[in-house]
Amino acid sequence: MTMPQAHEDASAFWEGHYAKLTAPASGRPSAILVRFTAGLVIGRALDLGCACGDDTIWLARQGWTATGVDVAQSAIDAAQRAAEHAGVAERTRFARHDLNVSIPDGAFDLVSAMFLHSPGKFDRLAALQRAANVVAPGGLLLIAAHGSRAPWSWADPDTVYPTADEELVDLSLTPSGWHDVFVGPIERIAYGPGGQTATVIDTVIALERLT
Ligand SMILES: C[S@@+](CC[C@H](N)C(=O)[O-])C[C@H]1O[C@@H](n2cnc3c(N)ncnc32)[C@H](O)[C@@H]1O
Repeated sequence: MTMPQAHEDASAFWEGHYAKLTAPASGRPSAILVRFTAGLVIGRALDLGCACGDDTIWLARQGWTATGVDVAQSAIDAAQRAAEHAGVAERTRFARHDLNVSIPDGAFDLVSAMFLHSPGKFDRLAALQRAANVVAPGGLLLIAAHGSRAPWSWADPDTVYPTADEELVDLSLTPSGWHDVFVGPIERIAYGPGGQTATVIDTVIALERLT
């Protein structure tokens, strides 16, 4: 797979990725999202890098008013169609954003960034700092990242994955403004694009915004 050389190519890379998939949406929400939203007071959610909408639609089904954003317009269009098909279009909103540049305005009770990885010069840290800024007081910032490489991943086999603690330090959030709900690794069974499975490590940061 050809890697883009600059973040301007991210859109083209992901459009190409989604054009090749025969079944872009799995219909399954992220296990991390399901686990860490259990018991939360339902409100406004923002799903960053929403792909074809599985997580956004699952949130809407639980009663959240959910906004999904992605750099790939084809993914946004597929997510919109899937939300209509699922009967939750009135509780979902999908918009194209390049998170290198912008994020929806507002204050959200849940901001979720599930595997917001991208080849090329994606400034993941800046995007996550922007994400932290739109969490409402009392809301949850939920970040999951790859902590190991799945066999089908486009990532370089020599990739060194930061730990959740390292990523939290890099985020440079004001310590007094956040409560650590969970920061660490979680093992799970992952499903590949062809339906194959593998055991992988996710690194998870779940923080409640205090102020
Ligand atoms: C690895 S996929 C993860 C998708 C989904 N959140 C999940 O957990 O399966 C990363 C997603 O982020 C999107 N993405 C990559 N770079 C982006 C950017 N700069 N701005 C917004 N979305 C981006 C991609 O289009 C893709 O849908």
